[in-house]
Amino acid sequence: MLTQHKIILGNSQQMPELADDSVQLVLTSPPYPMVKMWDSLFVQADPEIAELWQKLTEDCKEQTVTEIYDAMHKYLARVWQETYRVLSEGGIACINIGDATRRLNDKFKLFPNHSRTIETCEKIGFTMLPYILWKKPTTKPKYKGKGAFLGSGLLPPNGYVTVDCEFILLFRKGALRKFPPKDKKRYESGLTIEQRNNLFTQIWTVKGIRQKTGELERRTAAYPYEIADRLTRMFSIKGDTVLDPFLGSATTTKAAIKNERNSIGYEIDGHLLVSIEKKINKQTSDLPFEVEFIKRSLDLLG
Ligand SMILES: C[S@@+](CC[C@H](N)C(=O)[O-])C[C@H]1O[C@@H](n2cnc3c(N)ncnc32)[C@H](O)[C@@H]1O
Repeated sequence: MLTQHKIILGNSQQMPELADDSVQLVLTSPPYPMVKMWDSLFVQADPEIAELWQKLTEDCKEQTVTEIYDAMHKYLARVWQETYRVLSEGGIACINIGDATRRLNDKFKLFPNHSRTIETCEKIGFTMLPYILWKKPTTKPKYKGKGAFLGSGLLPPNGYVTVDCEFILLFRKGALRKFPPKDKKRYESGLTIEQRNNLFTQIWTVKGIRQKTGELERRTAAYPYEIADRLTRMFSIKGDTVLDPFLGSATTTKAAIKNERNSIGYEIDGHLLVSIEKKINKQTSDLPFEVEFIKRSLDLLG
């Protein structure tokens, strides 16, 4: 089946290219608030966040840290709101997000990004479904926010639990999706009992990308292909359109191509175009698909 894919280089806080109720699955992973590697993106993309970081260097107040965290989630909330608009009735949104641990102003704390995202999405109107915990076997335990869990960490009570799980939050827009009886594409997309039993379970142990691939994928914090592939098969059918508003290296597009879904992806960082093209073309050459690139240069970073 020939599938169509659009890569839009631009900011997904506005998606004028997409009509209301026009996509059936959202599959994405945003930049994680308060994870250091994403600080500069938030600063470049949002003047309010840039101002707050500047303020923190001057006042070093706990309150300013909270304001930065709030502003980062406000930035993401604009995308979740727009995502809700374009998702069709019964469509599912899968949001992969991790919590952050960080020492700021000499105080170590957890920033629970998953719970803030749940609150935001429920306020927008999404219905929360049971979520998946993605356990990564890679992360090493830490002590006082640094390095591996060292000797003194064996003495209670000042160690802390390693953040070695990320969340895959699952939401539905509106009521259950409806299909005509014996819908052909739905039946063609069916899972085996074994696949169903393996996929619809709450803890997934999947190796993170760090162990497998190169520098570029680490820089975009790509999720493994296996995660995108599983979610695509669980929550969409052949011929559906999958949206990724935080496309990164286009893992979602690749999973859509390989599973005969159409897709649309937004990416604000223009530097990623080369890696997007590379990922889309790798291991997909035997499949019939068309890709259109659209560049909205006004709101691009870099
Ligand atoms: C965690 S990465 C996504 C990685 C992706 N799942 C993959 O497998 O490669 C988040 C991406 O969102 C992009 N981004 C951040 N804000 C954006 C926005 N407002 N619109 C579009 N893309 C954005 C970042 O540049 C980054 O590439």
